[in-house]
Amino acid sequence: MYALTYTVLLGLSLQAAASPVIDPRQSSQQAFSPPWYPSPAGGTSKSWAAAYQKAAALVSQMTVPEKVNVTTGLGNSMGLCVGNTGPVPRLGFPSLCLQDGPLGVRMADKITAFPAGITIAGTWDKELYRQRGEGMGAEFRGKGVHIMLGPCMGPLGNHPAGGRNWEGFGSDPYLQGIASGETITGIQSQGVVATAKHFIANEQEHFRGGVNAISSNIDDRTLHEVYLWPFQDSVKAGVGAVMCSYNKVNNSAACQNSWLQNNVLKDQLGFQGFIMSDWLAQMSGVASLLSGMDMSMPGDGYYWDDRNPMLGPRLTESIVNGSLPISRLDDMVTRIVATWYHFGQDKGYPEINFSSHSKSDYGPLYPGSNNPEPSGHVNYHVNVMGNHPQLSRKIAADATALLKNDKDTLPLKKPMKIGIYGEDAALMNPGGANGCGDRGCNKGTLAVGWGSGSTDFEYLVDPLSAITKKAESYGGKVSSILFNNATAQMAEDAKKQDICIAFINADSGEGYMTWEDVVGDRPNLNTQNHGDEVVMAVAANCANTVVVVHTVGPIILEKWIDNPNVRSVVWAHLPGIESGNALVDVLFGDVNPSGKLPYTIGKSLADYGPAAGIIYDHSQNSSPQQDFIDGVFVDYRYFDKNNITPRYEFGFGMSYTTFKFGQLVTRTRAPISALPDKRPTPEAQPPVYHSTIPKADEVLFPPGFTKINRMIYPWLTAANVTKGPYPYPDGFTTKQPLSEAGGAEGGNPSLWEVLATVSTTVTNTGKVAGAEVAQLYLAMPQVGSITFPLKQLRGFQKVLLQPGETKQVTFDLTRRDLSYWDTVRQNWVIPGPAVGVMVGSSSRAIKCQGVLQTVQNGQSDGKGKGKDQGKGKGKQGKF
Ligand code: BGC
Repeated sequence: MYALTYTVLLGLSLQAAASPVIDPRQSSQQAFSPPWYPSPAGGTSKSWAAAYQKAAALVSQMTVPEKVNVTTGLGNSMGLCVGNTGPVPRLGFPSLCLQDGPLGVRMADKITAFPAGITIAGTWDKELYRQRGEGMGAEFRGKGVHIMLGPCMGPLGNHPAGGRNWEGFGSDPYLQGIASGETITGIQSQGVVATAKHFIANEQEHFRGGVNAISSNIDDRTLHEVYLWPFQDSVKAGVGAVMCSYNKVNNSAACQNSWLQNNVLKDQLGFQGFIMSDWLAQMSGVASLLSGMDMSMPGDGYYWDDRNPMLGPRLTESIVNGSLPISRLDDMVTRIVATWYHFGQDKGYPEINFSSHSKSDYGPLYPGSNNPEPSGHVNYHVNVMGNHPQLSRKIAADATALLKNDKDTLPLKKPMKIGIYGEDAALMNPGGANGCGDRGCNKGTLAVGWGSGSTDFEYLVDPLSAITKKAESYGGKVSSILFNNATAQMAEDAKKQDICIAFINADSGEGYMTWEDVVGDRPNLNTQNHGDEVVMAVAANCANTVVVVHTVGPIILEKWIDNPNVRSVVWAHLPGIESGNALVDVLFGDVNPSGKLPYTIGKSLADYGPAAGIIYDHSQNSSPQQDFIDGVFVDYRYFDKNNITPRYEFGFGMSYTTFKFGQLVTRTRAPISALPDKRPTPEAQPPVYHSTIPKADEVLFPPGFTKINRMIYPWLTAANVTKGPYPYPDGFTTKQPLSEAGGAEGGNPSLWEVLATVSTTVTNTGKVAGAEVAQLYLAMPQVGSITFPLKQLRGFQKVLLQPGETKQVTFDLTRRDLSYWDTVRQNWVIPGPAVGVMVGSSSRAIKCQGVLQTVQNGQSDGKGKGKDQGKGKGKQGKF
């Protein structure tokens, strides 16, 4: 049995509304997610109004089976993409192509394998976040994909060994939020619909799906302040699609969780697009739809290729027999069609020109039909790469974090004898860079993780080739010993070199693939392929050892990090297609490193706390219960709270130059109210339909219709539709009040108002140009029994500075930035009378700090004039 010694109740807050003090650890109830109905209709936002009008005009002409077709996948591999919806040819509405993934176009050629999410996050560069999004958007569009299945912001990284953390943007909600928002803006600027996934709390791969999927048990405050935060940024950025996840949340499957989808996503956040299921994450038919899910992917039922859909003909039947209100179907299809119009896909959108299932020019159009016909020209090999390899090289170099650099070993000063050690330095997979399907193995240099979040490599520049080319350009010589078990030879060779570079890595990925003992999630945070032995053999024999790390997340470095011969550690993440070139740029100083860690590197897995552990074993025939007992104290917040010294802290990264920070100046709008303005009235009204429920004989297959084998169709084969009472979920008939935190896309607009600004200066005090990331952390005052992290990131700015140059950095703080989620008031609340502000070069290197006056007694209208609040101390100290 699970020790349910505390409850992680979304509902607890409601039930406990009478009591302002909530300690979820004191409850012994089972985690439970309360009902929230009905599902809010889309079409309430002004910016989407034109698209909803067009959609209404089209949808009002559709028959029920046509509407159903738009909401249902045709079945696994029943089209050229990983997801293919049913078309409405009569009205010119196409089959939509949904394709992975978060770092590029999966299963296609002539594309760019961009640096992974965790890598771009490490640049801490908003402009690059957006440019990468634009680049990926252009590639998906060029291939004819309507809906890109990314970016990924869940998992967020509560478990440092989580298999898919690398697809997203690091273990801090604010960082994830900014990166997600900018990425989405970039993707969607190209007319491609982005998908914010996986909604929500999909933190581990073990037990990720099925009826006994893991339950992520999360309290209401943690949900809002941590896991939902980046989804809120995504909705604010206008994201067109959200993917509900495989896991349960508080014991209700994410795709049929009415609290999360109806209340949180569609009402509170005002999401205007559509929710698709993750592939087979749907666990019910009508119940999922009543709970807000809008599209079923890939259309099959509980199992791959079972062609036993929960929507398709069953949805048609549920309309005919009255189980699902037709207004819900109208909303589902309107949301999808409106999204298509909103991004201009009705005008001149490229045709899909590649196949996920074949490398040949010609092939089957519906490979999942088990039938080679119909077939056609499927692969046109359209090159969509543009200048994205150059962009990828810049991103990978700018993301690289220099973690150690004793005696200024880096940048390299044209060493004549360079020794390269370890498999991770070169292309070692006998099958080539794409030798393992979906990159599901760790052989040779690591440049992306595995699973649906990976792509093929059109090419991969490996470190050994790039370093060799560079060395040859000035007459240097490179020797290499690549097999990790050849440590004796490495030790001998290392003695002869001016500089030794040891390569190590750690890989992980999606849980449907296993490599050695990595079943999606890593079993530990160790280097893989005996990387520690490589470093130790080399460092024992070479006084100038540089360690290069390619990794999906934190690695424990303790076996050798304090060895004085390990002069430098270069954290290159997952660099993508231009890996070697980007590394050379940093090693030789053409690029001054400016990457900062998007997570904490601890000294052991245990440092991250018990709740950061993955549940690997569970023998019972039930859902494992993952209790998020650390609440908002994720990653560095946990280390800070528990006074644990990390090896390298969140936000850390060195440079070849040095920086100095100036004094802190804070400015607030006074007075500040604790609560946001009242929820505004909707800017637009959802379309109203006068749909009639057809009779069963009106939704039969059209006479003479020729079926494609194993395709999911919306029509019924016989008119014998069963009628009878449908077991509506508990709470279905209780209409819930709308959230005061909602009212517009991204939530109550008042949450996005800038209430304070903080500024300081950064000066380059060294001899070479370089970029510094100024990071702003807030320290909230305790409110009753509600405690806060010692610091939480609420701003960052990257500034490029010439030697001697000074620039001002200014951070805008919105109402949401200054608020916590009050579970009793069910709203964002700013604590008072003041919050601490810290600006530094990492989460532990605070350079200047001050205090921001917030909510004063008796001040509540939230309006006021700007006012300088004076200067901080300009040096580190305690509040
Ligand atoms: C993954 C999703 C992916 C989908 C389609 C699922 O297994 O969890 O992230 O988009 O497959 O490939």
